[in-house]
Amino acid sequence: MRIIRAKDYDEMSRRAANILAAQMIMKPNCVLGLATGSTPIGTYAQLVEWYNRGDLDFSEVTTVNLDEYKGLPRENDQSYYYFMNDNLFHKVNVRPERTFLPNGMEPDSDKACKEYDQIIAGTGGVDLQLLGLGHNGHIGFNEPGAAFEAGTNCVDLTESTIKANQRFFASMDEVPKQAYTMGIGTIMRAKKILVVVSGEDKAEIVKKAFFGPITPQVPASVLQLHGDVTIVADEAALSLI
Ligand code: GLP
Repeated sequence: MRIIRAKDYDEMSRRAANILAAQMIMKPNCVLGLATGSTPIGTYAQLVEWYNRGDLDFSEVTTVNLDEYKGLPRENDQSYYYFMNDNLFHKVNVRPERTFLPNGMEPDSDKACKEYDQIIAGTGGVDLQLLGLGHNGHIGFNEPGAAFEAGTNCVDLTESTIKANQRFFASMDEVPKQAYTMGIGTIMRAKKILVVVSGEDKAEIVKKAFFGPITPQVPASVLQLHGDVTIVADEAALSLI
């Protein structure tokens, strides 16, 4: 496990974007596993800047996202589909038909999950998976207790995640209670993993996840077992180690 210490959020974003860019340059037809949340926004902005300068080409890239809310239409500005278009896909030359997210509007969970696992398998496997880190150690939407071997699955979001999301919706009723997420088993099969973490409020979980015992109670702790993980974190997030 390699830890890259960045001064602040901007440097973290640049360093993470560097790693993604290197992957795209070394293998133009690579498969990138992508994440949402506030942490990777700066990373995507940096990639867009380099693309605009002519230094990056997404034309052969395939992307698979970690997760999507169940029951939220793609047009809803809180859907991860909307987020990805807004922060990256609409700003670079990635082919829309090569960008994949779980189908949040498929009501049949088994069908949605099976389809997404097939899509991921069909890409030939993820070369580089980008991950954020939830306050309780979740990765994607794999909440504490999630099985380490799972493929794509439908999860009931925890009360704390629902509450954390509430600010983005008009009322509590509108906040999705379930999501489809790539499972930990799928995440662990990515050839390389890149975790971005920022802020003092993540310091405790960084310590637990990467320096504590490996346990399903802290889903990200499983990453200690992966052979090629890079963590790019700012000083605040690393303040307890
Ligand atoms: C959400 C996403 C995760 C993300 C996490 C942390 O629950 N499903 O993929 O990593 O939040 O978000 P943030 O980066 O905003 O702290």
